[in-house]
Amino acid sequence: MAESTMQKIVSLAKRRGFIFQSSEIYGGLKACYDYGPLGVELKRNIKDAWWRDTVHRREDVVGLDCSIIMHPDVWKASGHLAGFSDPLVDCRNCKERFRADKAPRAEPASKTLYREGGKKDGKKLEGVVGPQGYVCPVCGSGDLSPERQFNLMFRTSLGPVDPMQEILDAVDDIHALDAKARREKLWSIIEQTAVYLRPETAQGMFVNFLNVLNSARMKPPFGIAQCGKSYRNEITTSNLTFRTCEFEQMELEFFVEPGTDEKWYEYWRKTRLDWYTSLGMNPGRLRLRDHDQSELAHYAKACVDIEYFFPFENPQGGGEWGELEGIANRTDYDLKRHAEFTGKELSYFETETKNRYVPYVIEPAAGADRATLAFLCDAYDEEAVDAEKNDVRTVLRFHPRIAPVKVAVFPLVKKDGMPEKAKEVTRELLAEGINSFYDESGAIGRRYRRMDEVGTPWCVTIDTDTLSSGTVTVRERDSMEQSRIPMGGIAQYFRNRLK
Ligand code: GAP
Repeated sequence: MAESTMQKIVSLAKRRGFIFQSSEIYGGLKACYDYGPLGVELKRNIKDAWWRDTVHRREDVVGLDCSIIMHPDVWKASGHLAGFSDPLVDCRNCKERFRADKAPRAEPASKTLYREGGKKDGKKLEGVVGPQGYVCPVCGSGDLSPERQFNLMFRTSLGPVDPMQEILDAVDDIHALDAKARREKLWSIIEQTAVYLRPETAQGMFVNFLNVLNSARMKPPFGIAQCGKSYRNEITTSNLTFRTCEFEQMELEFFVEPGTDEKWYEYWRKTRLDWYTSLGMNPGRLRLRDHDQSELAHYAKACVDIEYFFPFENPQGGGEWGELEGIANRTDYDLKRHAEFTGKELSYFETETKNRYVPYVIEPAAGADRATLAFLCDAYDEEAVDAEKNDVRTVLRFHPRIAPVKVAVFPLVKKDGMPEKAKEVTRELLAEGINSFYDESGAIGRRYRRMDEVGTPWCVTIDTDTLSSGTVTVRERDSMEQSRIPMGGIAQYFRNRLK
């Protein structure tokens, strides 16, 4: 069977050093990935572009970098301890554990066909879809356990006490207690040291609201931005880095005066959608999807997702809309909750009008790994260069701002001083902060193709004319056109083109 686009992207990502499975030589670890030499550059360029456009190019946004482990009461106030959970279901036939809200839908009481144990050669069985109206995503059985809530936060312990050891030590003592007292005793041991890996970066911005207000002398409307790791013990992980347990977020909390929140919500919807297209993403593969009332989080007045049409495989055919970023009007919920839990006054006093208010928050929350995957998928192209010869080139059409390598430098041949000149050019570009790559191996055509496949926008070739006239050939990735430019000032030439 022919490879799907997604399979080709996954294989290119590994072969060329974008994304590797974590701990691969140990057999890998479910939904954990490492970025290779080109992947780390791509993701870093995307995060840098976000930081530059969200923080550096604006007067009304400042940055923050908070610790991943925060005071455990933060998660009580935010509602994550009580409510940050997904509905978990077990399939009694194949033992798969999955998220009920993501399972394939089916008509309640309709017939369902599946194989015993979910095995290919298992006995054919017939069952009935339960009143919940979904079936197991793996074997199709309707024989499912009741739904139960599964909290997505990773719990760990802080301090020199090992709660597992304490529990083991307490086993004999709790023996005589009744079931309720045993649970309470065990929970009290866990709770003494329990802390959580943050499931979102957002709370760091809320709990530092006063610190930023006072130290940076900001006044609404203003934003606090943060880019960093978040952790969620996801039940269902899929499609390379789309949904993983460890991921990076790029979040902005934008504090505004109540009453102006709807205007700012509209502003950020547009600004954030435009950001993706400004970095070359195909607008035809992007859409805004408004949440309906039943979907809204408890704290949100309105929310919209920016979605990208990923080439994921699914039973309906190739492609699936997936969330890249959510933009929410979080109202004054978070500041009020933290004020309630800490007794601190988390509000803003406007001296001119003598007006004190708790700001509303508009939150554009994006994922760095999802954005990286989307830009990778969006850039992937196969171009028929010569249909008669069946010559097809694979090219990643990255916007130059996010391309991992900006310029590749080649000596035409490995003699006559060309390698020395090419190395000189490479060093000059690197010294100017333009990520460049020197390559002298193989025919020149093959070298171009290798760089096309990793999305390098420009290749520079040093040839005999370089030695006599001091010019080099610049070859464009997308059009494959070539032109000659002077070798002197080459770094400035590419600086201008990167602008
Ligand atoms: N503070 C709001 C918040 O965290 P979210 O929609 O849960 O909102 C924001 O997350 C973004 O973070 C998502 O749009 C997605 O890009 C990314 N994200 C969330 N969970 C993820 C996961 N398990 N793996 C990769 N990215 C994830």
